[in-house]
Amino acid sequence: MAEQTAVEKKRVAVLISGRGSNMTALIEAAKADDYPAAIVLVISNVPDAAGLERARAEAIATAVVDHRPFGDDREAFERALDGELHRHRIDLICLAGFMRLFTKNFVERWSGRMLNIHPALLPHFKGLHTHRRALAAGVKEHGATVHLVVPEMDAGPIVAQEAVPVLAGDTEESLAARVLAVEHRLYPQALRLIAEGRVGAAAEPAASRSA
Ligand code: GAR
Repeated sequence: MAEQTAVEKKRVAVLISGRGSNMTALIEAAKADDYPAAIVLVISNVPDAAGLERARAEAIATAVVDHRPFGDDREAFERALDGELHRHRIDLICLAGFMRLFTKNFVERWSGRMLNIHPALLPHFKGLHTHRRALAAGVKEHGATVHLVVPEMDAGPIVAQEAVPVLAGDTEESLAARVLAVEHRLYPQALRLIAEGRVGAAAEPAASRSA
């Protein structure tokens, strides 16, 4: 009989600031036995973020690291975050509607191990109000992107991306809903790729892979 080696699941923290629907999609995907990651911690910088309740209902550890008491001291805020991340032995971070920017030092500490989801087809429409801006620009295609986080905002290697059509008569809300449905599918796929070491810091260099 072939020897079975239990592959340890990567321990993932999801960072949120609000509703947490992408967090929920990750939690649901991670329930599958063959999923290579476990969501073991949810951190919010907003004490009453709705996503926290959902995480608690799933019996996932939660932490609130409110940015406000830290004022402009982003490094102190990040030290508090790092404290939680290390306490829970986190391997990978998923930013899911986490609306704070990190210092270069924090990003470099988590280089190749931190993902973000952005509601646009990067490199188009970085920043906020992506659906409103896509409609104003008259683009025919919009979508969502999961990328590794680098110090520059909404940049970094793209791990997964999917387009949706922009339809005549779309409003910001209808377009956002179409994109969100894609986000919920895309983020679990992207986390799987990273957790399996097929992309990111742990991935083999392309040159050493057989064709
Ligand atoms: C999502 O659409 C996500 O892509 C976006 O915030 C929403 C969070 O929703 N993120 C950003 O705009 C990051 N710049 P959720 O809390 O329901 O996952």
